[in-house]
Amino acid sequence: MKLSDCYNHRDFRQLAQRRVPQAIFDYIDGGADDEVSKRRNAAAIEECDLVPRVLKGVKDIDLSVTVLGQKLDLPVYLSPTALQRVFHHDGEMATGAAAAKFGTLFGASSIGTVSLHRLRKAFATPQCYQFYFHRDRGLNAAMLQSAKAAGVEVLMLTVDSITGGNRERDKRSGFGIPFRPKASALPDFVRKPMWGINFLTHERLSLPQLDAHVDLGGTTMSISRYFTEMLDPDMNWDDVAAMVRDWGGPFCLKGVMAPEDALRAADIGCSGIILSNHSGRQLDGTRAPFDQLAEVVDAVGDRLDVMVDGGFTRGNHVIKALSLGAKAVGLGSYYLFALAAAGQPGVERALGLMREELVRGMKLMGAQRVSDLSRNNLRFRRGADI
Ligand code: LAC
Repeated sequence: MKLSDCYNHRDFRQLAQRRVPQAIFDYIDGGADDEVSKRRNAAAIEECDLVPRVLKGVKDIDLSVTVLGQKLDLPVYLSPTALQRVFHHDGEMATGAAAAKFGTLFGASSIGTVSLHRLRKAFATPQCYQFYFHRDRGLNAAMLQSAKAAGVEVLMLTVDSITGGNRERDKRSGFGIPFRPKASALPDFVRKPMWGINFLTHERLSLPQLDAHVDLGGTTMSISRYFTEMLDPDMNWDDVAAMVRDWGGPFCLKGVMAPEDALRAADIGCSGIILSNHSGRQLDGTRAPFDQLAEVVDAVGDRLDVMVDGGFTRGNHVIKALSLGAKAVGLGSYYLFALAAAGQPGVERALGLMREELVRGMKLMGAQRVSDLSRNNLRFRRGADI
């Protein structure tokens, strides 16, 4: 199997599984507890049906959107994710190059493997900085300052990770930071020699957003344990209101699910929220973000930009979210498997397929631009209220 054999998410996932050690694949693929939310995220989207319109004259399709003050050529963006250079040696540099080519937003994670300064210099496309609020307030201030100095457009504060989800796949494999495979995983690493050769012959892995500030005490710590030990479970609305003021630019909260919290985000001056359950990697058993979308858009859609992520792997999935009122949709494992499978050409192929599916889907829906989509285009099979 090679990249040119990949036509969808399942193909990228399969190719990634062949190319990277199982522990790495499982970190990308896994959810918390029984992985119910992860499955629900995808199922919820499939339980909603599109009702196309015909004879609308849809020769030229415009997929552009303006979200968080940024004009994007596509209504999808690449969610900032941790540890990308573990998945592929080019990591965020590959992701950023692909995002820039397709005119969309990507960003650096607090647990990213390329510095936000380097990414800002390398690519002109809009960028966000995904922020984890640490117990160490000094670190938070330094991180915010660094993002300002880099000239990143959007601050994206993740609020659903104040303690680590129960990720049993990572417990079994020992996956963590700093990345050091445990001895029992070595035979699997030997079975994927190209990954190992690339890992060892490219720039040494580091966590530039954290390295100067965080001492992990020489141990390998799972991402879940990192959340629990390093992030601040006391973070509250006053802390975030102060951050919004300090930042002074587009600020969005990621990991909101309840309309009450969405209203509060609007009250403290957030420019956007991302409905997300962290792809089922944190609290298992949550409702799918897709199913919360209509209610939240109705509550705050006129006051801030509502985005959504979790389970979106097809153009038609994105069209459903846009029809419900989402301003843009975040992609995660969809592009990460493509990155792990083939680096920049992989992410470009994933974005290219997504764009084709969106153009085709819009034509077949009778919608020329994103603003032509509405809830009239949808019916929920379970008779849910929209
Ligand atoms: C995760 C974090 C790092 O889900 O976003 O692993």
